[in-house]
Amino acid sequence: MLKRKRKIGDRGNLVTIERNNNQSSEQFRSLRSNINFASINKDVKSLVITSPSPGDGKTLTASNLAVVFSQEGKRVLLVDADLRKPSIHHIFRITNNFGLSNYLIGQKDMESLISTIDFNLDIIPSGIIPPNPPELLGSMQMKEFISTVSDQYDLVVFDTPPVLAVTDSALVASQCDGALLVVRTKKNDVKDVEKAKEQLGFSGANLLGAVLNGKKEPKNNYYYK
Ligand SMILES: Nc1ncnc2c1ncn2[C@@H]1O[C@H](COP(=O)(O)OP(=O)(O)OP(=O)(O)O)[C@@H](O)[C@H]1O
Ligand SMILES: [Mg+2]
Repeated sequence: MLKRKRKIGDRGNLVTIERNNNQSSEQFRSLRSNINFASINKDVKSLVITSPSPGDGKTLTASNLAVVFSQEGKRVLLVDADLRKPSIHHIFRITNNFGLSNYLIGQKDMESLISTIDFNLDIIPSGIIPPNPPELLGSMQMKEFISTVSDQYDLVVFDTPPVLAVTDSALVASQCDGALLVVRTKKNDVKDVEKAKEQLGFSGANLLGAVLNGKKEPKNNYYYK
């Protein structure tokens, strides 16, 4: 169980730590159950969180999912693979001097990049913003990174940029066990959601489902407020 020894979380985005008993936290736990069910046939150890467009709630979903899986007792690594507009370090209030990008260009070893948030939760931030994110994320080093961390952790969650804007998330998703599409109700156009789904499909991603963000109907397991 995560303890609140210090104030973590940006603008209350980490509801699963800050307000563990509220409805939103419950929805993240329901989402966790659904992912566990989706893992019955094939173990999902690496999971990409993405969405059609900017601001849909990818980072918020990735962060809270990582927390609830760690609260369940799983050893979780949360990786900021949004090398364009990284924000996991803001949410957890850690430094982002070095991170995934520094590892991928061979500048840093993995251990030196890990921030331990709690007993079961580690984070690797994005690191310096590189000029060529798709090259880094589609590289052999990235493939090896995913394979290594998947062996070391029970679950690795990747926060990524929007699918329709850049190829980054499809590149990462094609190398991971599963992907979730965050859809901001009332904001995302149905056609955009279909396009995003199609692009992930083309890349060979295993789309596990969609998370409807912003829907005021909390009874459904995939919804949260
Ligand atoms: N359901 C919600 N209710 C209220 N605010 C929300 C909700 N979902 C997301 N937000 C807010 O919207 C903003 C964008 O969320 P977030 O950073 O998670 O999106 P993102 O998809 O990662 O964005 P980007 O594409 O810029 O990386 C944040 O300020 C977040 O607090
Ligand atoms: Mg984000």
